[in-house]
Amino acid sequence: MTDPHFHGQAGVRIAGTGLGLPEGRLTNADLEKIMDTSDEWIVQRTGIRERRKADPDQDSQLSMATKALDAALSDAGMKGSDLDLVINGTCSADSTVPSGACRVAANVGATPAGAFDLVAACSSFVYALNVADTMVRSGRAKSVGVIGCEFLTRMMDYSDRRVSILFGDGAGAAVVTADEDTRRGCLWQMTEGDGRDWEKLYRPMDESQIPEWDRENPIQQGCIRMSGQDIYRFAVTKFGEVIASGLEATGLKSEDISQFICHQSNIRILQKAMERNEIPDEKLRINIDRYGNTSAASVPIILHELRSEGKLAAGDLAMFVAFGAGLTWAANVWRV
Ligand code: UT7
Repeated sequence: MTDPHFHGQAGVRIAGTGLGLPEGRLTNADLEKIMDTSDEWIVQRTGIRERRKADPDQDSQLSMATKALDAALSDAGMKGSDLDLVINGTCSADSTVPSGACRVAANVGATPAGAFDLVAACSSFVYALNVADTMVRSGRAKSVGVIGCEFLTRMMDYSDRRVSILFGDGAGAAVVTADEDTRRGCLWQMTEGDGRDWEKLYRPMDESQIPEWDRENPIQQGCIRMSGQDIYRFAVTKFGEVIASGLEATGLKSEDISQFICHQSNIRILQKAMERNEIPDEKLRINIDRYGNTSAASVPIILHELRSEGKLAAGDLAMFVAFGAGLTWAANVWRV
């Protein structure tokens, strides 16, 4: 419940973060055994060495998301009942009716918190963070559980080597809460998309959803399809543009930002963004080698790693950036 005496313009603080990672690992050597690929090709083209792989008999989107939010709540020293809202950023929820968020909220004891899934593919967590910041800053909510969680390996066609080598499973979560210091939270946000290019990265559920470019290719329904080079070009351009927009809008320079917390889709995309915006290695953490592309989960996993290592101190400026299917992209500049 929102405190009736609490009206607007609060600062916003990330009070806790946590992870929900499956035990299973899928290495490049494992992939070499089931398709025509090589560790060398994958590392050179993507930077990925292994990914986490959930076990459908033990894990679910719900179990990973619950674990991550539970961990974020204990990191924050809070209980589920302290949350007004739970946002489950995902494109791989176990069900849409009910939403995954409602069941995660119930699992952590966050009732009667509002709960909804937010589906913006790889941008979902940053979209959700922007929503959470806006809700808390305006006084509509005091504390929000924000999750990025994906069970993507169950949407892979392992005979499609262009796509299936990229994606992994996992979850990260943050508890976002009101803070007296109104300078904390987003200085700037961008939450955008362009559905005209939806067909470049999509998941067909029946024949009618297959676009022209993919009609001649063998397709497994329910598996993710991607026009890799189109998405690569979009990502490289958009990543650079979004970072430049955030810096321009806030009057900041790259060196003012302590950490760029970025979606991990391909090491080459990240390196190009760093070159274009003159970002040194120590300010843009890369962990794609260990997790692959975990879509909505990649940003909160990085966020948790940085916080755990004490690399984000109160008052530091961070820039969150993500892009993905939709097409969607989102970013913010956040005073920690
Ligand atoms: O978070 C969602 C957003 N997704 C992305 O950001 C992904 C963006 N795209 C990419 O990262 C890259 O396009 C990929 C990593 C997916 C592919 O890399 P690429 O350099 O664009 O490769 P390509 O598709 O142009 O393929 C080059 C060659 C082809 O062989 P030929 O036709 O030149 O003989 C492919 O058949 O590499 C071949 N190839 C592979 N070889 C070994 C494609 N996949 C593989 C593979 N192993 N797994």
